[in-house]
Amino acid sequence: MAVYPELSGRTAIVTGAARGIGRTISQALVDQGCQVAFVDRVPKAQLEAECRSAPGRARAFVCDIRKPDDVERVVRDVVSAFGGLHIVVNNAGITADGVLWKLTDTQWRDVLDTNLTGSFHIMRAAAPVMRAQQSGRIVNISSINALRGKFGQSNYSASKAGLIGLTISAARELAREKITVNAVAPGFVETDMTASLPEPVLAQARAECLLGRFGRPADIAAAVTFLCSDGAEHITGVVLRVDGGQCL
Ligand code: NAI
Repeated sequence: MAVYPELSGRTAIVTGAARGIGRTISQALVDQGCQVAFVDRVPKAQLEAECRSAPGRARAFVCDIRKPDDVERVVRDVVSAFGGLHIVVNNAGITADGVLWKLTDTQWRDVLDTNLTGSFHIMRAAAPVMRAQQSGRIVNISSINALRGKFGQSNYSASKAGLIGLTISAARELAREKITVNAVAPGFVETDMTASLPEPVLAQARAECLLGRFGRPADIAAAVTFLCSDGAEHITGVVLRVDGGQCL
């Protein structure tokens, strides 16, 4: 992984940090010297275990991002614990798959509330802090399924497409304060979220990957880390596909 010395000492919030892509992004930012708030809704002891590698610089904040009051509290606590807030990575996300005509209200609402509204809660709470300091980086983890749709994932695709709209609007609104807002759209990545998919789905995804392999959490972390670096200071409002050509 490339090293960006300017990231040392910056404070980051990463949601969905307990496992998968979020855990790898959090660890990558810790390795860059950032102070990282690991935010997730899992039990505190589990989240704290993830932070043991960097005592003092990695801290656990249990929070359900669907709840605006929880999010406001966590952002306040992070700023007072670390001083400032330079980076936000909205990574927490869920799936609740089903074809459109069988999707329940609960499946629709859970996915939209987490993937889209939860990210909005964090951005709304973080924006005043970043505006006051006249700098910041926000990276939202979308999906290639926001761009191409996916059979059985109309709720998920809608939530991730909404996140792209949110990203681009926020990029416009926050540019004056030198805050960049970008989205990363992963293709298929091997994590717990995708582990239980049936073999025909895996085979199709594998065949789509032009570069001949599935994505790894480290591929996503590398893109996120770059977008947080000074080298990306003139990049805002983009959707960066990290998918091995799966969506071409
Ligand atoms: P994962 O299921 O392994 O991890 C998601 C994490 O988010 C979990 O730790 C979970 O506890 C947390 N989380 C869920 N709801 C939450 C809430 N309301 N509040 C706080 N934390 C919450 O997922 P994975 O695979 O690591 O995916 C991470 C992100 O990347 C998600 O947004 C996902 O949609 C996106 N993505 C994943 C792809 C893949 O193939 N794995 C492909 C494209 C996008």
